[in-house]
Amino acid sequence: MISQKKFSSRLLLTICTVFAFLCFVSSPVEAAVQRYQFDIRVANVSRLCHAKPIVTVNGMFPGPTIYVREGDRVLVNVTNHAQYNMSIHWHGLKQYRNGWADGPAYITQCPIMTGSSYVYDFNVTGQRGTLWWHAHILWLRATVYGAIVIMPKQGTPFPFPQPDREEVILLGEWWNADVEAVEKQGNSLGLPPNMSDAHTINGKPGPLFPCSEKYTFAMEVEQGKTYLLRLINAALNDELFFAIAGHNLTVVEIDAVYTKPFSTQALLIAPGQTTNVLVRANQIPGRYFMAARPFMDVPIPIDNKTATAILQYKGIPNTIVPTLPNLPRPNDSAFAFSYEEKLRSLNSPQFPANVPLKVDRHLFYTIGLGRNSCPSCINGTRLTASLNNVSFVMPQVGLLQAHYFNMKGVYTTDFPDNPPTPFNYTGAPLTANLGTSKGTRLSRIPFNSTVELVLQDTNLLTVESHPFHLHGYNFFVVGTGIGNFDPTKDPAKYNLVDPPERNTVGVPTGGWTAIRFRADNPGVWFFHCHLELHTGWGLKTAFVVEDGPGPDQKVLPPPNDLPPC
Ligand code: C2O
Repeated sequence: MISQKKFSSRLLLTICTVFAFLCFVSSPVEAAVQRYQFDIRVANVSRLCHAKPIVTVNGMFPGPTIYVREGDRVLVNVTNHAQYNMSIHWHGLKQYRNGWADGPAYITQCPIMTGSSYVYDFNVTGQRGTLWWHAHILWLRATVYGAIVIMPKQGTPFPFPQPDREEVILLGEWWNADVEAVEKQGNSLGLPPNMSDAHTINGKPGPLFPCSEKYTFAMEVEQGKTYLLRLINAALNDELFFAIAGHNLTVVEIDAVYTKPFSTQALLIAPGQTTNVLVRANQIPGRYFMAARPFMDVPIPIDNKTATAILQYKGIPNTIVPTLPNLPRPNDSAFAFSYEEKLRSLNSPQFPANVPLKVDRHLFYTIGLGRNSCPSCINGTRLTASLNNVSFVMPQVGLLQAHYFNMKGVYTTDFPDNPPTPFNYTGAPLTANLGTSKGTRLSRIPFNSTVELVLQDTNLLTVESHPFHLHGYNFFVVGTGIGNFDPTKDPAKYNLVDPPERNTVGVPTGGWTAIRFRADNPGVWFFHCHLELHTGWGLKTAFVVEDGPGPDQKVLPPPNDLPPC
């Protein structure tokens, strides 16, 4: 059923591209409803000569792609047949007033229990491009993930050369062992769990790994044609470089927002982010490797293996050995910095960048790692992580329910706007115990106020780069820098004209990033590091955005089938 849908929407796309006139005339203006059935079930999958049962959607790994058009309504009935409780997050969809369909477990809903179903019912409004969906509980997103492709409204072309064809490229991580067992073991030792055994491209590690002959993704291209690649970093813990041997990439969109196009040999993509690129098959017909490998600019152990897939020109035999691209060095911070610099919103009359110019609320959050005492752990300590020295504790009921029904005692709204004690954040390694506290502490934000949030990395334990994701919103990345943020000098250097707009941003190692957004979406919205390792250690909080005065500015009532706690 899913593949039929995929087929028909592709067919529709082709017909509409060829006969734009027909589609314009014959299609009604009202939104279509796209229905999907997601059966969460365990399936046996084999990679790297290891077979194991994994949790999947409809037995597929990666899971099915959701195809919609801007303005459509989407209904996904998720039925859970697996032994784990489940929730699915539609990463990057704004879910206006409708946090009930957002999906993070214990933030906007309780999980869907084994044997139960829940319908995620949402509208895709004001967004077009590539997003993705993933499990949002435990580490299950290691295998439960897939793409969301939002086509522009009918009759609206892309603001870049129309590609001849397109392809989803999902980058992931593979463990030979059971991922939930790996996570549990790490937690009980108080250490990072074992790192992954491979990276994958569309679920396949490629021929540089054992037993991978049939586990290699290949994409056939024709000389002279242009292809749109929809890249998604679905890895749990690794920022990745990506390149294709001999072919430049033209970046045209990030996180479902159009950018000013620019050409690059390689790109950088953090967990949670998406990047659309145009690739022209303009080289000598042959076979060319696409490759993905982590970026890590501090001495932290990481799965540094390279996943490959093949860009294959039509008619070229499989016996030709592909060439590898020149990926940036694994610790190439200079490449990372200059790449991020090039990202600019398109900011055209049709797709403006509405950057808040006046700020109602200034927030400054420090990112800290640390060790808490843990008598049963291997070193007597457990690794933790905190924002403004608060390590977040997950509640037992959904925070959105607690907010909507005014339940007391679930959370407090006293999350600090600033760190408790200022210090030299990025100076010499800090071991001082700042007395990290634990709590389910949130920030309350009045409806429609504008927020500036500066995220400051610190040298508590170690500096490291962190991709931060905000649910329910896009934000503008107005500034970034290395070292300590200077509130008197740095704001003068902000880009308030065409900054990148996205839902996940990398805070550079030992540096800071400033983001701005208008709090026009009421609800409870999770904000966390998208490295699953750090989220688990407490590097997260949530914003309670109050209802506005208007009748269409309030959180919608919860659906009847919202899973009970
Ligand atoms: Cu893609 Cu809260 O995550």
